[in-house]
Amino acid sequence: MQPPDPTSRRILPEAAPVIAPAAVSLRVNGEDRVLDIDPRTSLLDALREHLRLTGSKKGCDHGQCGACTVMVNGTRIYACLTLAVMHDGDEVTTIEGLGAPDRLHPLQAAFVRHDGYQCGYCTPGQICASVAMLEEIKAGIPSHVTADLGAPPALTEEEIRERMSGNICRCGAYSNILEAIKDVVEMPA
Ligand code: FES
Ligand code: FES
Repeated sequence: MQPPDPTSRRILPEAAPVIAPAAVSLRVNGEDRVLDIDPRTSLLDALREHLRLTGSKKGCDHGQCGACTVMVNGTRIYACLTLAVMHDGDEVTTIEGLGAPDRLHPLQAAFVRHDGYQCGYCTPGQICASVAMLEEIKAGIPSHVTADLGAPPALTEEEIRERMSGNICRCGAYSNILEAIKDVVEMPA
């Protein structure tokens, strides 16, 4: 008797479902951009891979390091943790939109003055986070270390450290980052 033909019982894998591309309109650094992308694309990949804005960095791609921090409608977010399609019509600001080598944003200039980096990989995220963080304090948004929730948060080193704790620097440039941030604000004596 002939042995059974092993190929006759092979189960062929089902073809992967086709995902239709989605149109997304973003206003990025003051410019209207329209993308036709896989709806599973993260905002970070949309910026880096589709718009070639590589200033925002991919450190962990898991919401753990802050290297991808950008501002969406003025609020800082981790661009790796959100899909681009969720931001249709939104205004996105990346490090490229804050300043340029010949006209640095005051925080960019302060980071240079104070050596607020070593390898620089976390720096775009640190600067975007700093800009948004100072606006949050100005708007009176409390943090975990704000003692009196009924009063506007004070601009203290403790507040700045706490609010910047979502941005990790593997080079450990934290003390210089703090000095750079303090340089652009008036700290209480
Ligand atoms: Fe987004 Fe690390 S790359 S938090
Ligand atoms: Fe290297 Fe922050 S400067 S990780």
